[in-house]
Amino acid sequence: MQNSLENLSEIKLQPQYGLEISGLDLSQPISDEVASYILNKFNQYSVLLFRNQKLDDAQQIAFSRLFGELEQISIMTAATNQYVYRISNIDNREKILAADSNKRKLLNVNTYWHIDSSFKSPPAMASILYGKEIPEDEVTSTAFCSLSHGYDCLSPAQKKRIHNLTCYHDYKRSLKRVNMVELPEYELKNLSACRQPMVHIHPDNSTQCLYLSGHISSIDGLSEEEGEQLLDDLFKTVINTDTLYEHNWQQNDLLIWDNRCVMHRVSNIPAKEIRRVHRTTVRCPAPLIPASATI
Ligand code: OGA
Ligand code: MN
Repeated sequence: MQNSLENLSEIKLQPQYGLEISGLDLSQPISDEVASYILNKFNQYSVLLFRNQKLDDAQQIAFSRLFGELEQISIMTAATNQYVYRISNIDNREKILAADSNKRKLLNVNTYWHIDSSFKSPPAMASILYGKEIPEDEVTSTAFCSLSHGYDCLSPAQKKRIHNLTCYHDYKRSLKRVNMVELPEYELKNLSACRQPMVHIHPDNSTQCLYLSGHISSIDGLSEEEGEQLLDDLFKTVINTDTLYEHNWQQNDLLIWDNRCVMHRVSNIPAKEIRRVHRTTVRCPAPLIPASATI
């Protein structure tokens, strides 16, 4: 099938963001015209869904490169390809992981609200997640929350308080939260940590966005207690808005999200059936632009 703009159809996923696009076969070549259509929709809708895609690693990588330069995997424990993160609830012998296994604990990091690679600078721009094997009976979903609409829902006092703040993002914070202390030294060494603004300007649509992630380990200038309290308030406010989208997975879904303006979490990891999803990640071409840098 030749990919063209003529055969497309679009359905909104959620009133404020998210778009399902049908009529494209992403394993096939994408013309400049179709690529710029997809990039525009990505910047406008923040979450894109393409169903019924049949992609191998090379095809997923080729498609992902339309968005920019790919991140290399930092934790090879869960990968076999330097660009494709294989996320699954099974071990090397295809047995469902024991609850106390290291790999299962690593999966639990994704059950907390987060932004992918927020602990890197530049951080991740797009995550592209492919539903390779999705359970038939156990429901598995990924939840999203908009950080631009979420920002708009903050009170003027909250906005004023956080405008100039910077936060330290550290993946080790998330490892600690899931009681994972045994990551090998050579893995830990690949995990950077960095400062990010708490509010930034999305470079492609100019909206102000909160940059809120479970990887935040401290807020500059605040005590640990004050920092935890503020994060708690912010998470509660944005999660309680009407900007949630819960994606119920079907096999062969390709879901793309903009880490600059949505955060996400996996809602449930199946306990009995196999779930395999493959992620490629596109880097931001430049560090985030702090809202405080603009007038
Ligand atoms: C991720 C992630 C959610 C999921 O890949 O970064 O958070 O549903 N995944 O597996
Ligand atoms: Mn994630």
